[in-house]
Amino acid sequence: MKPEKYYNPNGEDILDEKIFGGSPTGFVDFNRSRYRWDSNIYDLMNANTWFPSEVNTANEKKNFEMLTDNEQAIYKLTFAQLSFNDSAQEEYLSDFRRLANNRLVKAVLTLQMMQEVNHSKSYAVLLDAAGNSSEVFDLYKYDAALNRKNQRIANQFARYIEGGSAEQMLLSSMASVNLEGIYFLLGFAYIYVLGDKVPGARDMIKFIARDELNTHLPLFANIFKTLRKENDISAKTIDKIYEMINEAVDIELEYGKYLLENYPIMGLTEELIENTVFNYANDRLSKIGLEPVFKSSSETYLQKLVQKHLNMNDVRSNFFESNVSNYAKSSIDLDDF
Ligand SMILES: [Fe+2]
Ligand SMILES: [Fe+2]
Repeated sequence: MKPEKYYNPNGEDILDEKIFGGSPTGFVDFNRSRYRWDSNIYDLMNANTWFPSEVNTANEKKNFEMLTDNEQAIYKLTFAQLSFNDSAQEEYLSDFRRLANNRLVKAVLTLQMMQEVNHSKSYAVLLDAAGNSSEVFDLYKYDAALNRKNQRIANQFARYIEGGSAEQMLLSSMASVNLEGIYFLLGFAYIYVLGDKVPGARDMIKFIARDELNTHLPLFANIFKTLRKENDISAKTIDKIYEMINEAVDIELEYGKYLLENYPIMGLTEELIENTVFNYANDRLSKIGLEPVFKSSSETYLQKLVQKHLNMNDVRSNFFESNVSNYAKSSIDLDDF
């Protein structure tokens, strides 16, 4: 590796550092940001810092054992899949970060990696409390549908991560838009449906969902839009982006329908699941500046559940400590660049 990667006094002006391509001097200067969204998202991520030990999981085993058989299966298969998402995302981010040029954007990705590790830790804490950690982490060996969803996500992550051009980097960033914005969502919704029966799981998911949806998704939506703005992106590449989100919808619905057919629980229907995933996919397309293409319907019950838990003020009574109430309530302006 050339030392210029770490220090290049003849590098470009810090305000000229694009996301893709260039030669930065090597400083992470939060006072001179080419974009504003990068330091805004960094501050929001930091303000939102939480630790798994802040969630009360003391009764998780007792609560888990009171669930019906189908609810227990949903609980285990949901956490088995979500825990894969966060593990994979950490590894993907360290690869994606190498494709980036702007040092401040890279710094935000570094913080995101830390948060994904924190999510992995939170699953371990929760499942240890529930008494089924190894069983859940090993479920991919026995459940073909779970294994297939994980594999399809991994395939999408791997497809464009080698980079080499702005278009490849754009395609790679879409894998993360899909992860943060689609692959988590039915899992979050399922845990919220179980809700008060497993308050430990519900509260852990509240914190994870806020990280994914309030900061990680906006980060990648901004990376996507900025890459498009700063580079000449062909219509063919945009077609591939649509193929990727179509695939993401298929991945999410395939697993959602598998759970529904095999472990039905009250109130969930195929139509509800389809409408929910289609609505999310349309929303993600709008967030990255593309036209929604999926059948749209009014906000579903599951979307309302997820949205309700993104607001901070309703978590209080379930925590031992009150320090997590400081979780930042501000939101990111997606067009902030
Ligand atoms: Fe995460
Ligand atoms: Fe994330």
